[in-house]
Amino acid sequence: MNILSPSILSADFTILGQQIEEADRAGAQYIHIDVMDGIFVPSISYGMPVIKSIRKATDKVFDVHLMIKDPIRYIEEFAEIGSDIITFHLEATDDPQAVIDKIHSLSKKAGLAIKPGTSVETLVPYLETVDMILVMTVEPGFGGQSLIPESYDRIRRVRQMLTEKGLDTDIQVDGGIYSGNLKDILDAGANVIVSGSGIFKGNITDNTKEFLRIMGN
Ligand code: DX5
Ligand code: ZN
Repeated sequence: MNILSPSILSADFTILGQQIEEADRAGAQYIHIDVMDGIFVPSISYGMPVIKSIRKATDKVFDVHLMIKDPIRYIEEFAEIGSDIITFHLEATDDPQAVIDKIHSLSKKAGLAIKPGTSVETLVPYLETVDMILVMTVEPGFGGQSLIPESYDRIRRVRQMLTEKGLDTDIQVDGGIYSGNLKDILDAGANVIVSGSGIFKGNITDNTKEFLRIMGN
C-alpha cells in the first residue's frame, strides 16, 4: 500500500495544528516529524513538547524520524508521547539491533534509516526485524533540497534485497520529493512517501490530493 507522510518541517509553525489538520482532512495517512539534535545533523528542529502538543491535532500515525546520536537514550520518551513509528539512523548507533528491540518492546514500529552515502548492504542484518526502511534521498538536516539522482538505484536495490528474502517491508523515501518525480520514486519500489515542501508550500489540500492521485489512492 502507498502511504503519504507530510513532513511538518516545512509547515508554518504559527498555525501548525491547523496545517496538520488540513493535511489529515485531505487524506494523508501519516504525519512525518523530524527530530534533529545539532550533533548527528547540523540543525536543531523540535522535540518532545511539540510532539506532545500536536498529538491533540490528529489521530493519524505519527511517523517520527530521529536524526539524533545514540537514539536509544530517548526511545522510551518518544514512545510515551504518542509516536507510532520510530525511525532512527543506522549511522547514529553502535548497536542498531538494540534500538530496534527497544522500540518493539514498547509495542511501536521500528524504522531504520540510511543516509545517501551509506551502503545499502549495511541494512542486510536488520531486514527481517525492522518494520520500515528509510532510504534518505537527500543528506538529512534540511528541507527543500533536491533529490540525489543515485537514490533511484538505491531504492531499487533495497526492494530487490527485500523481495529476495520474501519480505514486503515498507520502503520510505525522504527529501526532494515533489509531484514531478513521485512516479519514478514509486516505480523504483518505494511506498511510504515523505514530502515537506511538496505538501506545505502552497495549498496543502491541493498538494496532498495531487500526491495521493499519483500514488493511486
Ligand atoms: C530532512 C528531513 C525531511 C525534510 C524533507 O532531513 O528528514 O523530512 O522535511 O523536506 P523536503 O520534502 O522539503 O525535501
Ligand atoms: Zn525526515
